[in-house]
Amino acid sequence: MKNIAVIGTGYVGLVTGTCFAETGNNVICVDIDKEKVERLKNGEVPIYEPHLDVLFERNIKQKRLQFTTDLASAIKDAEIIFLALPTPPGEDGSADLSYVLGVAKDLGKLITEYKVIIDKSTVPVGTADKVTAAIKAETDVPFAVVSNPEFLREGYAVDDFMNPDRVIIGTEDEKAKIVMKELYQPFIRDGHPLIFMDEKSAELTKYAANAFLATKITFMNEVANFCEIVGADVDKVREGMGSDTRIGHRFLYPGIGFGGSCFPKDVSALMKSGLDNNFDFSIIDAVLNVNKKQRIKLLDKILDYFGDIKGKKFALWGLSFKPDTDDIREAPALYLIDELINRGAEVVAFDPEGMDNVKKLLGDKISYVENQYDALDGADALLIATEWSVFKNPDFNLIKSKLNSPVIFDGRNIFNLSDIQEKGVYYSSIGRQTILPKV
Ligand code: UDX
Repeated sequence: MKNIAVIGTGYVGLVTGTCFAETGNNVICVDIDKEKVERLKNGEVPIYEPHLDVLFERNIKQKRLQFTTDLASAIKDAEIIFLALPTPPGEDGSADLSYVLGVAKDLGKLITEYKVIIDKSTVPVGTADKVTAAIKAETDVPFAVVSNPEFLREGYAVDDFMNPDRVIIGTEDEKAKIVMKELYQPFIRDGHPLIFMDEKSAELTKYAANAFLATKITFMNEVANFCEIVGADVDKVREGMGSDTRIGHRFLYPGIGFGGSCFPKDVSALMKSGLDNNFDFSIIDAVLNVNKKQRIKLLDKILDYFGDIKGKKFALWGLSFKPDTDDIREAPALYLIDELINRGAEVVAFDPEGMDNVKKLLGDKISYVENQYDALDGADALLIATEWSVFKNPDFNLIKSKLNSPVIFDGRNIFNLSDIQEKGVYYSSIGRQTILPKV
């Protein structure tokens, strides 16, 4: 059992705190937002993340998980302090470290005995050194700064945390290595190692992993676009490529680009890090440019089909950046909406979890419905931007009876081409032949 303080109760902080409490540690989470801390104390989980609520409730009840706004009291007995603070992108794409360094300074003023201070936030290479310097400027008390990046996918964060592929520990402090090893022992299984390295390598591992995955997706998106031009089928190409164990099947699904709170931010930050070091990360530059175009890929198809879309009405299924989350940050659907309404079209949207967040952002620029089929009434086409399970086996007769004409643009390839051929719809997807309704 360890006493742990987690500073920052955002997505990463909450999952980290809850999962460490679940493995028998005493965890106290700190946030400056009083209202949020009150809600957390009452057992309210402020984010949509499957399975988190059960663990959250259980650990609060058993008093292993607590919340406070008081940093000093939270860290007093904590041997381990996690920094799970926001690192929002600045205008130039670089990660803004002001929250991290601000708290580091506070910690320097507060600590009175050896602490292991862990960077969980995704931070540029060299941040551990900056955090160390910020603390050292305030105190002579010994401490270690460890880089321990998270690899949590939204929607699967609890499972990813409890069953990690690997845990990266960046530190050269021998005492901290022992503490980290004990802390992560419950999560380590055969073939899923705890990997020790220096701080800088750990920091770069996170960016390199995310940028590689973003590149893999983007590469497939370009292959899909080329498939459309030469008449190949990306489903077949994907199967053929993915069967090479060096490539693997995962993250090869083409679509309307990657979004979310991590990939776009981390890829831009790595690009900026390169520039800061006079290093031209040209592959990353290409990934960002291709993804920017891919996000509005459906627009090109819609314009090809309709020509002018002024006054046209589009039903949009899916707003969140991926299924099983209410997160709409950098969601391709938002970029598509923007292009459609700028051209005078009307959008009626449905999403199982993301609508409240879009309402806050876009208000009445688009309309919202509580049932996916209600979006179709009098619409000129159905657009699919997120592959929620609930969209995958729809009532095609109902779709056809409600749409003005049976036209579907699918940005996530959720239907099999062989199945859709029988449905009597015009169906355009990514990297595959367009299906015309049988006459
Ligand atoms: C990602 C990383 O997976 C995780 O390790 C990191 O810590 C945070 O960023 P997340 O953003 O939650 O997690 O989503 P993920 O499931 O990785 O998907 C990212 C984006 O890529 C989504 O927009 C998704 O739609 C897209 N994607 C993913 C594809 O377009 N094709 C694929 O084959 C896979």
